Amino acid sequence: MCGIVGYIGQQQAAPILLQGLSKLEYRGYDSAGISVRNGEEETVIVKSKGRLKVLAEKTNDGLAVKGNCGIGHTRWATHGEPSEQNAHPHASEDSSVVAVHNGIIENYQEIKEKLEKKGYVFYSETDTEVAVNLIDYYYKKHDGDPLDAIAKAMMRIRGSYALAIMFRDYPGEIFAARKDSPMIIGINNSDVFIASDVPAILKYTRNVYYIGNMEIARLTCGNVTFYNIDKEEIEKELTEIKWDEEAAEKGGFEHYMMKEIHEQPKAVRDTLNSMIKNGSISLSDAGLSDEELEKISHIYIVACGSAYHVGVTLQYVIEDMARVPVSVDLASEFRYRQPIMEKDGLVIIISQSGETADSLAALREAKEKGVKTLGIVNVVGSSIAREADRVIYTLAGPEIAVATTKAYSAQLAAGYVLAVQLAKVRGKINEEKYTEMIEELLMLPDKIAKTLEDKERIQWFASKFSNAKDVFFVGRGLDYAIGLEGSLKMKEISYIHSEAYAAGELKHGTISLIEDGILVIGILTQQELYEKMISNLVEVKSRGAYLMGLTVYGNYGIEDTVDFSVYVPKTSKYFASSVAIIPLQLMGYYLSVSKGLDVDKPRNLAKSVTVE
Ligand code: F6R
Repeated sequence: MCGIVGYIGQQQAAPILLQGLSKLEYRGYDSAGISVRNGEEETVIVKSKGRLKVLAEKTNDGLAVKGNCGIGHTRWATHGEPSEQNAHPHASEDSSVVAVHNGIIENYQEIKEKLEKKGYVFYSETDTEVAVNLIDYYYKKHDGDPLDAIAKAMMRIRGSYALAIMFRDYPGEIFAARKDSPMIIGINNSDVFIASDVPAILKYTRNVYYIGNMEIARLTCGNVTFYNIDKEEIEKELTEIKWDEEAAEKGGFEHYMMKEIHEQPKAVRDTLNSMIKNGSISLSDAGLSDEELEKISHIYIVACGSAYHVGVTLQYVIEDMARVPVSVDLASEFRYRQPIMEKDGLVIIISQSGETADSLAALREAKEKGVKTLGIVNVVGSSIAREADRVIYTLAGPEIAVATTKAYSAQLAAGYVLAVQLAKVRGKINEEKYTEMIEELLMLPDKIAKTLEDKERIQWFASKFSNAKDVFFVGRGLDYAIGLEGSLKMKEISYIHSEAYAAGELKHGTISLIEDGILVIGILTQQELYEKMISNLVEVKSRGAYLMGLTVYGNYGIEDTVDFSVYVPKTSKYFASSVAIIPLQLMGYYLSVSKGLDVDKPRNLAKSVTVE
């Protein structure tokens, strides 16, 4: 997820681009850049690593770069680490074409190889530079027609993109194209704007066009023309934006957390698509070969907080499906307990930020002991990503809310894919089961989206418990792992004390805490443990608990036992956490809102814990 802006009109472009980018920093902030054109003069490109303020200082708040036409970008790395070299805008070799891009070009490697054979040389590691040179290639091959070159490139590219493009031969014009990545075009008399999101241009206009999938826009001073992929002109209606600025930054949601909860289908889909190509798993981006996976004698998963809960889930999934022994540790414990590690073991560090101090220390500890390491990381170029021997990137995009949601879901997705591949190369699942697992995985984003449709019921239920003092989550097997995360979500943002227990453990102490009216949330997605769970729920009910049951569609008999039931779509038993966590995230969120708390910034917590 990155942010793009563009401007053409009668004002100076650079200050407008910087102002727009400042409103898009939530979409990425590892580097930024602008490209501005002053009439017939050569395009000037200024880029910098780090937050936008570095670029603002470098350009004297944009005043040092002159011209009425330009494009800008704030980056969240997906291909290539954060650096000035990889920052956008990117230019073709002779600077005929300059562009900024948001999205992921899935077949960039294949296109890059073809272009290299035609003599193109690349200076960055980005998929964007590949797109720029592909446009340049078609532009030069087919009589210098920008529209034609863009359309041809769009036909060739697989993946998602929003592109803003300038051609040296066409001063005073910007072209835009999109597929599956957001982009809008704003207009106010002679000023025309491009942005990946509304907040970037709200200061200047509320009148926007939504550019559709596989469409192209041609912007000149005060005018915009739209084309379909066949280069036929199309008509578009202007829409008036009614949101205020703050609401717009959160995509119309009240909080970033809610926005990020709704971004989960996309985060999971993007992560799966980066690891599953044409129906089979490819871990080559992570540098993990099948031979390597075959040899692993033991997996040690190490992480903190929610990422640790992903580890607990993956322990169940990997051991059951791939029959590889898995240990899971909290990073803060692992680093000091002198763990015994087998030399053919693999240490997996899971981290959204890639900067969590304990997780990083655990990684270093493992490396020192000579054990191979794999990072499952969201932030490209972060310390854990750089130091781990192998990296799988989750493609959740930047997460702003302190309580993780979409990064957690993307970590689960990446872990499942790894589990399936491990099971396959070690002969624990046959070809048929492998295909079935992949199909199940690819259905998860839609099932998550479907689960989100039921949020009003959770909201209503949460409103009844805002005064709760204690809440217990109980489950068995994978449902216990989901409970751990559900409980953390609840306590960290609603400040209601909650605990998760393996349901079989209740009798060994916890059941003495159950008294009249205490909310117990039972999770029952694992069909073979369903009856046992029902017995556990009956036990706590007879001690006065108020029961919520979370299970899959079809298990309607649960209504005989619980006071309130929530259903999620059925998945393979291994992947149930991905859908079952959604109502629990919503539960934590709505409790926090009903108590009037600061959902996105809960007290005493930081997004990234870089100290011990
Ligand atoms: C909880 C939460 C934290 C993080 C933990 C690890 O909602 O966000 O528990 O999961 O601090 O952070 P990363 O994944 O950045 O290592």
